[in-house]
Amino acid sequence: MGKNVLEYNLMRKKVSRNPFQEQIEEKLGRNDDCWCGSGKKYKKCHGSFDDKLDDCRRKGILVPPRGIIKNPEQIQGIRESAKINIAILDYLDEHIEEGISTQEVDNWVSSITKKHNAVAAPLNYEGFPKSVCTSINEVVCHGIPSKDEILKDGDIVNVDVSTIYKGYFSDSSRMYCIGNVSAEKKRLVDIAKQSLEIGLQYVQPWRKIGDMGAAVHEFVMQNGYSVVREIGGHGIGLEFHEDPWVSYVCPKDTGMLMVPGMVFTIEPMINMGKEDIYISDDDGWTVYTEDGLPSAQWEIQVLVTEDGYEIISY
Ligand code: MF3
Ligand code: CO
Repeated sequence: MGKNVLEYNLMRKKVSRNPFQEQIEEKLGRNDDCWCGSGKKYKKCHGSFDDKLDDCRRKGILVPPRGIIKNPEQIQGIRESAKINIAILDYLDEHIEEGISTQEVDNWVSSITKKHNAVAAPLNYEGFPKSVCTSINEVVCHGIPSKDEILKDGDIVNVDVSTIYKGYFSDSSRMYCIGNVSAEKKRLVDIAKQSLEIGLQYVQPWRKIGDMGAAVHEFVMQNGYSVVREIGGHGIGLEFHEDPWVSYVCPKDTGMLMVPGMVFTIEPMINMGKEDIYISDDDGWTVYTEDGLPSAQWEIQVLVTEDGYEIISY
């Protein structure tokens, strides 16, 4: 067994923005500049939005703190960052193959990122030693690239790319099938991808995020797989990991209210066997399935809009 998963998760979930709704947001006058930084007057910007949020808060619903609501300029910045993230994953679509090492993947990610004058978010994040996470077969997530790890025929690998550009963060990941992958593993990869599409249908403003997580969970269970409980998605944009914490193992009608301007990831980790995981004692990062069966994960970054969602990075 590796280090305590809960402890690890708490570390990863560390957020600098107050997640608790007891927090008192400053009251603004109608003609004040809006808190979101749009430069518009409060009454023309988030005035009625805040009234609606206050109603929800009074009903006991967990509402997002102001710090995670993005204004149009910030959203544009996040989109620009995501373009680079997507370009990296597209490059991998074309180039990843049997015989290359995960260190080579790391080199590609690092050089494409630099070419775009961007920064790889994982590098030195909480001490993570590389620019990208590469997670093969029974590795659930946070695999560390290595020159000694060679991709072989039949492997499934998740490459999780996160980019910082002009201070804005993007994060998405894809699965890559190396050579001839068994039908069993292919199905796992497909269901993991489809689970995102299911989840997306529940991303709607003024709906709770637990509806999305519960829908993902139900779909995965129906298909005979399990979902990792301890590691989930996260808000993102101005920082790597912001509120909310996004679970895919939760009851519906729970969790934070989704509202326009929120950006978060949908990234359920789907296990072929049991949901249990452990973290490597050796490196303190690599997460494995307890039963040694394969795991798959795709990750998208979504923006909640006035009438639904926009996929920012995929
Ligand atoms: N992209 C991962 C995530 O979803 C990054 C994990 S932190 C790292 O949050 F240091 F391992 F990169
Ligand atoms: Co993420």
